[in-house]
Amino acid sequence: MNANWSYPTQVRFGAGRIRELAECCTGAGIARPLLVTDPFLAAQPMVGKAAAQLTAAGLATAVFSEIKSNPIESDVAAGLVALRRGAHDGVVAFGGGSALDVGKVVAFMAAQSRPMWDFEDVGDQWRRAKTDGILPVVAVPTTAGTGSEVGRAGVITQLESRTKKVIFHPRMMPSVAICDPELTVGLPPKLTAATGLDAFVHCFEAYCAPGFHPLAEGIAVEGMRLVKEHLPRAYRDGADLDARGGMMAAAAMGATAFQKGLGGVHALAHAVGALYDTHHGLANGVILPYVVSYNRPAIEERVVRLARWLGVDGKFSAFLDWLLDFRESLGIAHRLCDVGVPTGESERIAAIAAVDPCAAGNPRPFDASVARRVFDAAVVGALR
Ligand SMILES: NC(=O)c1ccc[n+]([C@@H]2O[C@H](COP(=O)([O-])OP(=O)(O)OC[C@H]3O[C@@H](n4cnc5c(N)ncnc54)[C@H](O)[C@@H]3O)[C@@H](O)[C@H]2O)c1
Ligand SMILES: [Fe+2]
Repeated sequence: MNANWSYPTQVRFGAGRIRELAECCTGAGIARPLLVTDPFLAAQPMVGKAAAQLTAAGLATAVFSEIKSNPIESDVAAGLVALRRGAHDGVVAFGGGSALDVGKVVAFMAAQSRPMWDFEDVGDQWRRAKTDGILPVVAVPTTAGTGSEVGRAGVITQLESRTKKVIFHPRMMPSVAICDPELTVGLPPKLTAATGLDAFVHCFEAYCAPGFHPLAEGIAVEGMRLVKEHLPRAYRDGADLDARGGMMAAAAMGATAFQKGLGGVHALAHAVGALYDTHHGLANGVILPYVVSYNRPAIEERVVRLARWLGVDGKFSAFLDWLLDFRESLGIAHRLCDVGVPTGESERIAAIAAVDPCAAGNPRPFDASVARRVFDAAVVGALR
C-alpha cells in the first residue's frame, strides 16, 4: 500500500514514507521546524531519526516533548515558548492524538492574541482568529485512532472546568500528513485496541449524526469495515503491516467523516477523560454500546444498512451483539467501573457531557438526564 492523496489534505501514505519528512517540511515552507511529540516517544529511536533527518537536510530543528496524554493548556503554553525561543516557522506534530493536537494548536496559537479558549468549537467562534501567521504543520501519526493528522481541531483539557475543549480552525488542517504504518508497529495491543476503537466510534457517530452529508457517510461506513477487518489482526500481531496500514487509513477516514458531527459517545468520553484521565479511545470503546442502545429508535434503519456492508448477519440486535463480541475480543472492558471510573459522580459527568458540543450531534436528544442515564448504565454494565 503506497499512495499520495490530496484529500482532505495532502497525504503521503505507505510504509517507509517517514523518509520524506524533510522534503515535506520544505514543501510546506518550513525551514526551522519545532518537532512536537510526547515524552515517551521522544526517547524512542523514531523521533531521534526524524530529528536527525531534518537536521541533515539543513533544517534547524528542536524537539519539544513536555506534554501530557490528554493534554492541558500549560502544554500548549510551554510549546509556544519553545516555538518562540527557537524562532521556528512551522511544526512537525509527531505522535498520537495528544502530540498531534498540541502541535497543531501551538502552530495556530502562534498567530493569536486572544486566549486559546476563545476558539472553542462553538458556533462561528473560529472566525475571531487571525489567520496571518498561523504556522504550517506536517503531521506524523504514530497511533491509528484519532485521525488528528487530517483534522481541523485539537482537543485540550481545561483544568478549571475539568472539561475537554475542542479548539477549532479550518487552518489547523496540517499541510501534509505522513501516514506511515511502520511507525505504529510498536504500539502495544491495549493501545492498539483502544485507539482503533476511537477510529470506529468516529465513523459510527459521524454516520449516525443528523444532517445531509452523504460524502461523510460513505467514508464512515468503509472506515468501519476497515476497522472490522484490520483491528483484530493488528491487535494480535503488531508487526502485520497490512493490518497496521488498514487501521491508519481507517483513522484518517474517521476524522474526515466526523466533519459531519459526533455524538453522545464522545460527549461522555470527553467528560470521563477530563475528570479521570481515562484514555480517550478506551472510554469511547467502553461507552459505545450503551449509546447505540439508547439511540436505537433513531438509528435502527441505518444500522441495518451498515450491518449489511460490514457483513454482519441480522438486524439491529445482531449488530449490537457483534459489537459486544468485537469489543470483548479486543480486551476492552464492558463497564466503566473496570477502567477506574467511579460510580458516585454521574450528576457531574452528565452536566459536563450535556454541554459538550458533541452532544448536539447525537441523533436523539442528549441532555443531562439522558447523559446521566447512559453513564449510569455504562458504569455498571447495564445494557438493554
Ligand atoms: N484532534 C482530534 O480530532 C481528536 C480526535 C480524537 C481524539 N483526540 C485526542 O487525542 C488524544 C488521544 O490520542 P491517542 O489515542 O493517539 O493517544 P496519545 O497520543 O495520548 O498516546 C497514548 C500513549 O501511546 C504512546 N504511543 C504513541 N504512539 C506510540 C507508538 N507508536 N508506540 C508505542 N507507544 C506509542 C504515547 O507515548 C502515549 O503514552 C486525546 O487527548 C483525545 O482527546 C483528538
Ligand atoms: Fe475521538
